[in-house]
Amino acid sequence: VTERTLVLIKPDAVRRGLVGELIGRFERKGLTIDALELRTMDAELADTHYAEHVTRDFYPPLKAFMTSGPLVSLILSGDQAIEVVRGLIGATDGRKAAAGTVRGDLSLSNRENLVHASDSPDSAKREIALWFPAHSV
Ligand code: CMP
Repeated sequence: VTERTLVLIKPDAVRRGLVGELIGRFERKGLTIDALELRTMDAELADTHYAEHVTRDFYPPLKAFMTSGPLVSLILSGDQAIEVVRGLIGATDGRKAAAGTVRGDLSLSNRENLVHASDSPDSAKREIALWFPAHSV
């Protein structure tokens, strides 16, 4: 079944010049770009986007990192897009992510892990409404 998912190409990926590499991987898989924008996360958007993490020890440095520079937000769509994109990006910790995944191939960090993607249909709906209100349904 066709799904939509919210992807963030994080500030580390933008700084490292990996935007094209990452979008290319998603395109070559066959996913469709429904929306795309370059923007910088502010503190309020960070706290809302990461509401489930705001009380965690790792949140303050995560927030500093995510607001440190521009990122690319996208809506990707395709058959089982939520699970498919999570598979393409790999485990959260780049040191443990499988080779062949974005993080496994390109990240050595648990925080600066290049990309975020919605982890469930509920979070995809919430995150699309937050980042692309004109595209939410
Ligand atoms: P993301 O998929 O955006 O969801 C939450 C983010 O928090 C995660 O990617 C990492 O960037 C970061 N993160 C999760 N766990 C840790 C951790 N233990 N230490 C540092 N950063 C983390």
